Amino acid sequence: MPEIKEAPMSVVGKATPRIDGPRKVSGVAMYSSDHRFPGMLFAVPVCATISNGTIDRLDVSGAERMPGVRAVYHRANVGKLFRPVQRKDLTADGSIIDEQRPPMEDDVVRYWGQYVAVAVAETFEQAKAAADAVRVTYTQEKPNVETKLEAEKKPEVESERGDAEKAFAGAAVKVDQTYVTPAETHNPIELHASVALWDGSAFTLYETTQAVANHRNVMAQILGVAKENVRIISKFLGSGFGGKLWPWTHSALAAAAARNLGAPVKLVVSRQMMFQTVGHRPRTQQRVRLGTTAEGKLVSLQQDYLNHTSMLDDYKEECGEATAFMYSTPNLKVTSGLARRNIGTPTAMRGPGAVPGLYAIESAMDELAIALKMDPVELRLLNEPKIDEGLGVPFSSRHQVECLKTGAERFGWSKRTPGVASMKRDGLTLGWGVAGCSWIAQRIPCTATVALRDDGTARVACGTQDIGTGTYTVLALIVAERLGLPIEKVEVVLGDTSLPMGPVSGGSMVTGSVIPAVLEATEKAIETLVSNAAKIQGLPFAGHKPDELYYDAGRVRLKSDAAAGGGGIAFEEVLKKGNLSAISGSGKSEGTFGAEGKAKFSTHSFGAHFVEVTWQAEIARLRVNRVVSVIDGGRIINPLAGRNQIEGAVVMGIGMAMLEATEYDHRSGAPLNSNLADYIVAVNADVPKLEVHFLDYPDKALNAYGARGIGEIGLAGVAAAITGAVYHATGVRVRELPVRIEHLLA
Ligand code: MOS
Repeated sequence: MPEIKEAPMSVVGKATPRIDGPRKVSGVAMYSSDHRFPGMLFAVPVCATISNGTIDRLDVSGAERMPGVRAVYHRANVGKLFRPVQRKDLTADGSIIDEQRPPMEDDVVRYWGQYVAVAVAETFEQAKAAADAVRVTYTQEKPNVETKLEAEKKPEVESERGDAEKAFAGAAVKVDQTYVTPAETHNPIELHASVALWDGSAFTLYETTQAVANHRNVMAQILGVAKENVRIISKFLGSGFGGKLWPWTHSALAAAAARNLGAPVKLVVSRQMMFQTVGHRPRTQQRVRLGTTAEGKLVSLQQDYLNHTSMLDDYKEECGEATAFMYSTPNLKVTSGLARRNIGTPTAMRGPGAVPGLYAIESAMDELAIALKMDPVELRLLNEPKIDEGLGVPFSSRHQVECLKTGAERFGWSKRTPGVASMKRDGLTLGWGVAGCSWIAQRIPCTATVALRDDGTARVACGTQDIGTGTYTVLALIVAERLGLPIEKVEVVLGDTSLPMGPVSGGSMVTGSVIPAVLEATEKAIETLVSNAAKIQGLPFAGHKPDELYYDAGRVRLKSDAAAGGGGIAFEEVLKKGNLSAISGSGKSEGTFGAEGKAKFSTHSFGAHFVEVTWQAEIARLRVNRVVSVIDGGRIINPLAGRNQIEGAVVMGIGMAMLEATEYDHRSGAPLNSNLADYIVAVNADVPKLEVHFLDYPDKALNAYGARGIGEIGLAGVAAAITGAVYHATGVRVRELPVRIEHLLA
């Protein structure tokens, strides 16, 4: 890994507006569904209107004869779509897909909205009319969308140390409660979409995907072609929140239709369909048992969780993600189980596992503090671990104590009085709550190239994506820093499988993963530049060896001249003199744990949220009034985008705590609130002043800059801090999200 100069950094660490911002606000940025091609057709799926049963008859005769209709595909005529072999890794060969069954594989309907046919026509309106005209009759059975979860088989042990049952039985103070989080639906503003092109031998697919390489590997298998014959492009995303990590069935339908008809096909998933066929965060039910000594030292921590999944796929929401290392305890046990429902397959949603998991754990810690008559910050400080007790290895960088103390200080926590409804201001009751948070920090293997060009600009290319979070800008900053160029002179190219393999935009892994590859590529380009400069006729370096030259701030210089103040030659002049249009280098990042596969360090981000709610009992009005978040997320490459990430996550946490839930009709199995009027997300009016503070300790276990990803950490813990504050204001402990007025009237 190249050495980073310890000289003050000029652009890394400086608040920088997103370099792709102007393209987005001016409408120049091309999102997947913006692509248009001559002769392009439009596809509209037909969605099942039952949740459990079989298709008896599917009559497309009327639809096929409608104006502009080119085809109506269903099981019998769509052509062979293959089941991909799932390979759950994040390298170039990974092929991850949550809903494994290819669309229309059989006549069984397992969830509401499952695609049973797809109409393709010359205009969107014609395709929609044809889809509506397809007549489907079903044999229907009672769907199971029951909200109370029971494990379908014996729970699996996820993590265990000591004897948690026995220690709990003997504990002086105990909490034993069950916490429930509802199904939540990702609602990025950009709808999922595919624009599929087939040239007779290869596909070009414009996709709303957070992972172009994985998407290619899966689609090649489903379509039965070599992966070299599939190119995936995803230049801009109107976010994804995890819903766009892995391919969904509509991608296969668009590609199949394009191949069958020999024409470009666009398929845009409607907002309503997005509640049915592109994943969601599953419902979780978590029993948490905590036992302590009389002084509050944890002796036992148990978490037994269940989540719902679909009829065919085993999607596990890893609620124990942070449990084994969050607090120090000699005895711990985490178990998991699945409950099958007639609901589409769940998937990762921002902070999968840890977010619902920490809602439960941090809520239980708050209840424990009350049982102990202890301050909840003090309780956490008392149980701070020295190492990751789950893995038995040190943390690479953990400053949770400082997060709690700094947050308490900034929030004014010392003024808190613990009694329920004991704090008043302007006729309102105040509630104050706190929670800790954590999210994994990983580095996944990837590659990048950097080119120096004869116009004085640089180009960095990596097959990762920018889902709206600032990846374009992060790469520009890293390259600009080393090359000593203004960021305007750095072009960043992402989102295409024809580029060097990049990381998935998920798991908060992009920034931490790309830095080594990009730095190495930059260094290689510089090396080649310098060795060329030593050879090119007509430059003042004649007769010198490459190691007598060096690159600094856009120029190639002679070491001997530097002492004398010699200015050297601008790199573009070197290229021009040598008749070279570009000089490039490539670099790669290894996975976090290297070849041996065993962690030497436990790498995670940490943090704490402090929340104030106001409660007006007379009119049952509850507001989140103030949030202070302190995040230990390694070095922050771009504090402006970084702050936005945490703010956005806290907004999502307010939604999780107060508003969001996908409701399935017990009679039909249909999601009832499948639109943005009835599925309520937090909007500006729900969001108070948010204060975000980064500790900014570099984590050198991940990369030379010490940067960790911060896309998800900000959401973990927020809901528990809010429900803790709600308890403090009202005396009501809400253990089933979201908090509803009726809970508080009880
Ligand atoms: Mo995130 S749920 O890994 O996009």
